[in-house]
Amino acid sequence: MAEKTFTVKVEFPEGGEETFEAGAGEYILGAARRAGLQLPSLCEQGWDLACAVKIVEGEVDQSDSRRYFEEDRKCGFALICTGKACSDLVIVPYQSKQMRKCRDEHGLPAPRGT
Ligand code: FES
Repeated sequence: MAEKTFTVKVEFPEGGEETFEAGAGEYILGAARRAGLQLPSLCEQGWDLACAVKIVEGEVDQSDSRRYFEEDRKCGFALICTGKACSDLVIVPYQSKQMRKCRDEHGLPAPRGT
């Protein structure tokens, strides 16, 4: 049986949008690359926040990320390098500074220098 796929819509902060399909068991960043869309990343382990996105709509499974807190979810952020779509998604990329701010506000660790 074919793997279930979800539609991921990317809304760029500067305007414009792109849409691609992501398999249920596939990392969203990898699915974006497969579709020819380059989004920021660095560690690709769910650690340094380089790939952070804001979730406008939908749910992301972060169980493969090295560090992801419940507060990250409450603030509406996802790490797409190691995040898998659980539904259709609308996301805004380039959110590492904003995600770091959320961590700071909650007294949680946030790697620097990225
Ligand atoms: S690339 Fe480092 S957390 Fe995703």
